[in-house]
Amino acid sequence: MDETSRTNITDHSPRRATRRDALRRFASFTGASPLTRGVTDDQQEAQATAPEEPGYLSQEPLRGRVPIIRPPEYSDEIMAPVNLHEFEGLAKAKISPMAYDYIAAGAADELTMRANSEAFDNYWIRRRAMTDVRQIDTSIELLGERREHPILLGPAGAMHMLHEDPYRTIARAAKNSGAIYVGGAANMAEFTQAGEAPTWWASTLGSPTQEEAATLAKSVEDGGGSAICVSVDYPYTGARDRVIRNEFDMSMIPERNYSTSEPPANGFQSGMIQAYVPNMTWRYMDWMHAASNLPIVVKGIITAEDAHLSVENGAQAVVVSNHGGRTLDGIRGTMEVLPEVVDAVAGRVPVLVDGGVRRGGDVLKALALGARAILIGRPYMWGLGAFGQEGVQRVIELLHGELRMALGNAGQTSVSNLDRTLIRRAWLPREW
Ligand SMILES: Cc1cc2nc3c(=O)[nH]c(=O)nc-3n(C[C@H](O)[C@H](O)[C@H](O)COP(=O)(O)O)c2cc1C
Repeated sequence: MDETSRTNITDHSPRRATRRDALRRFASFTGASPLTRGVTDDQQEAQATAPEEPGYLSQEPLRGRVPIIRPPEYSDEIMAPVNLHEFEGLAKAKISPMAYDYIAAGAADELTMRANSEAFDNYWIRRRAMTDVRQIDTSIELLGERREHPILLGPAGAMHMLHEDPYRTIARAAKNSGAIYVGGAANMAEFTQAGEAPTWWASTLGSPTQEEAATLAKSVEDGGGSAICVSVDYPYTGARDRVIRNEFDMSMIPERNYSTSEPPANGFQSGMIQAYVPNMTWRYMDWMHAASNLPIVVKGIITAEDAHLSVENGAQAVVVSNHGGRTLDGIRGTMEVLPEVVDAVAGRVPVLVDGGVRRGGDVLKALALGARAILIGRPYMWGLGAFGQEGVQRVIELLHGELRMALGNAGQTSVSNLDRTLIRRAWLPREW
C-alpha cells in the first residue's frame, strides 16, 4: 500500500500506520487531555493540521477546546439532586402528606399515570455516529416566537400547597429559565406590569357560558397573555383514591377559579362526581374566537378524531395530554398516542405533549415522534415545593442540559432536524 491511499479517510482497506499518523493521533489525543493544559491553541493547531496531506480531515479543524456549557449554579442544596426524579423526595420531606398525595396522585389505579412514564421506555434511540455535534441548537419556533428550548411549564391549580406565593414564583422562574408558563390568569396583569411575567399562555378548564368565556378572554388580553390554552379533558374531577383516603382539606385550595360545582362541604368522597365544565363543546372555540384574537391552544387531545376537530375549530396548537393521569384512568400513555395525533394534524399546527417527561432523552424521543415541544407538570411542582423559585429554575435548566447531552450523543445538532428515523418501538422489529 502506498502513502497516497491514506489521504482518503473513507478508505477502509487494511494499512500500516506510519509515524506521521501516530504523531497526529497523539497530538489530537493530548489536545483533549487536561494533562496538556499548557499547550497553546496555536501549537495544537500546528500539530493537528500537518500540511503534508491536505484533505485528510477535510472539515474545518477544531480550534482549541470546546467550552463546557454549564447551566446556572445555585446553592449546594439545590444542586444536590442529580436528576428530576430526586426533587420529588426533597419536596415530600417539606410538605404535608396530604399535599404530597394531592400532587402525586393519579386517577383510580393510576394505570395511566404510570403508562405515561413507561411509554417512554417503549422507544429506543437509533443514535447516529460521526456527525459534527460541536454546535447543538435546542431552539424552536412556537406560535410565531423563537424559544431557546422546547420546555414549557404545564398548567396547575392548587399550588398554594407548595408555596405561599406560588404563581408569581413559578412565573418568575419561567421567565428566568426561558420556559413558557401555561397557567391561570390570577395576578398576571400585575406581574406583567412589574416586568416579572414570562411568555404566558392563560390556561382554562373552560367556562360554562359565553359571557364568562368572553370575560376570561378579556382578562387574558389585559394581563398580557400570548395565547389561551383550553384544557378539554376535565368535565369532572377524576377518582383520586389517595386524596379521598386522606380526607382532603379543601381549604388547601383557596383559588376556586374554574369549577362550576360548589366546593364539596366534606372534601372528596368515593363515587362523588364534582363537575367542572360538563357542558363544554366545540362551540366554546367559537366563543373564544369571537372574544379574542389570541391563538387558542387545545390541551388534552389523545385521538385523531379530536385532533382534526381541534384544527377545524381554529386551534393554533394541540397538546397531547391526559392531565398527568389525573382524570380518566385507562388512557394509554401520551407517547403511545402522540403519533396518531401528529399524523392527523399533518403539520397544520404544532403538536405538543406532556405526561411523564423526566429526562432529556424523553424530550428527544417526543420531538423525534413529531412533537414541537413538551410540558412538564409534577417535576417543576416538586422543584417549587423543595426550593421555591430556584428549584423550578433548576428543574428546567437541568432538563434542558440533559436534552443537549442527548442530542449530541445521538449525533443530532438541532431539535428541528429530528424525525422518526431516530427512534424505534422496543417490540416492533420493523422500520416505521
Ligand atoms: C397538582 C396538579 C394540578 C394540575 N392542574 C391542572 C389544571 O388546572 N389544568 C390542566 O390543564 N392541567 C392540570 N394538571 C396537569 C398538568 O398540566 C400536566 O398535564 C401534567 O401534570 C403532566 O404530567 P406530569 O406531571 O407527569 O409531567 C395538573 C397536574 C397536577 C399534578
